[in-house]
Amino acid sequence: MNTLWSTYVQNINTLYSSRSLRFADKFKEKYLRVFVIDGKNRILEIGCGPGALAESLHSWYPDAKVYGIDTDSNFIAFARKNITGAQFLEADATALPFEDNSFDVAISNTVSEHIEPLKFYGEQYRVLKENGVCIVISARKGINITAPCIAEETEFEKEIWQRAGEYFVDYLKRYDVCQYPQNEAELPLSMQEHGFKNVTTEYITVNLTPDNPCYSKEMAHAMINANRLCALDSVDILLHVAGEKITAPEVEELKRIVNAKYDKRIMLYNKGIKQWDTDMSVTMVVRGEK
Ligand SMILES: C[S@@+](CC[C@H](N)C(=O)[O-])C[C@H]1O[C@@H](n2cnc3c(N)ncnc32)[C@H](O)[C@@H]1O
Repeated sequence: MNTLWSTYVQNINTLYSSRSLRFADKFKEKYLRVFVIDGKNRILEIGCGPGALAESLHSWYPDAKVYGIDTDSNFIAFARKNITGAQFLEADATALPFEDNSFDVAISNTVSEHIEPLKFYGEQYRVLKENGVCIVISARKGINITAPCIAEETEFEKEIWQRAGEYFVDYLKRYDVCQYPQNEAELPLSMQEHGFKNVTTEYITVNLTPDNPCYSKEMAHAMINANRLCALDSVDILLHVAGEKITAPEVEELKRIVNAKYDKRIMLYNKGIKQWDTDMSVTMVVRGEK
């Protein structure tokens, strides 16, 4: 359909690596407790991006058929190639290519704020069966502390980001990003107003702190590298958004610096020199029934 989101807003690596951690099996029980969809057979994920949540849903509910839809062709191509067990389709959440009353669950993660609520809820209501479950997962303000070896910027980095700065002013509006934000009261109210009953809210915290001894070395590395991939994706987006102001060699140099910082963070972790940098996400889960 298009490749806007994956080119200008969030690249594949950013979404797939960060979501794979947030929906990791380690946190499975937290999600299962609030989803309450055991025994529901057909699950539709709206705005699935590169498919990390659909992948977890397939593994957590092996008897269910999981479908993911998104307008971004790059995301759907990635999901089809890399994720087995779920089916992925390029489709618009405001005109779902599914029959009325055909799903038991409609679920989305960080999508509701980007789609006009009447269409967002209206289409999910239409395709859900009677007593079908609508789950809206929405990121709230968490805690994010960066390690000093990553936070410190060279003069070169400062100058580049400053030069590109004006291009980033309001640029997300161009791609209809976050045009419909809702606070913690508006979200459940909106679900209710669009016909859903028995609406409930829950909050899930996921503490991604590499130095925490409860995490394996593999998971700690995955946390650091997920941030590395987000940072590298930001550099790629910089080229798309402010390409006239930044040269390709400058982008390469920026990427080299980013990689060196994250290599240093990994080295500190491997040596046991704790930084206690953290990404503690607070996720709101709003659940309603048709
Ligand atoms: C913040 S991203 C979240 C992606 C995914 N849920 C995740 O957590 O990785 C928002 C997603 O919504 C998709 N999206 C936006 N408007 C859409 C629409 N009308 N129909 C389907 N997908 C849409 C974007 O392409 C993008 O993949």
